[in-house]
Amino acid sequence: MADNQRSLVIIKPDAVQRGLTGEILARYERRGLRIVALKLEVVSRETAERHYAEHEGKPFFAGLVDYITSSPSVVLILEGPDAIGVVRTMNGATRPAEAVPGTIRGDFGLTVGRNLVHASDSVESAAREVGIFFDADAALVYQRAIDPWIVEA
Ligand code: RTP
Ligand code: MG
Repeated sequence: MADNQRSLVIIKPDAVQRGLTGEILARYERRGLRIVALKLEVVSRETAERHYAEHEGKPFFAGLVDYITSSPSVVLILEGPDAIGVVRTMNGATRPAEAVPGTIRGDFGLTVGRNLVHASDSVESAAREVGIFFDADAALVYQRAIDPWIVEA
């Protein structure tokens, strides 16, 4: 039986500016993943630096923080069986030029500095990132009528 997991997803400023928010959310929903928290916000520099702390000191760090804080992002928590790996696969390779068609980056992106989406890369990262962007009680617990048609009991 697959692990029920949560992934912290960011629809980054380039995707929001390009009017791709609905398209990207629709892909996650159609896959069967459940949105349990969602907001539109301009990510602060402090939050961006915390979120991407593992990349501090790398040559692209300053540009990455500028990019993520430049304009509104949609930040959400997705839940479902093996959600972390499923969402990473849907997003595609970090470098859109290497991302296969059918993935979000492979369909809509060309360069690593404008790669449209973020998703947690492990259970530990997801817990850390959810804590950065959302209050402890922000994620809603609910069932959808379609859930038994997506996940067997
Ligand atoms: P993300 O964290 O945004 O989901 O992306 P990822 O796991 O696929 O890639 P990661 O290695 O964590 O890189 C974080 C973000 O930094 C930017 N980046 N730029 N110029 C570069 O060489 C470079 N490398 C990474 C990208 O926006 C990447 O998503
Ligand atoms: Mg990453």
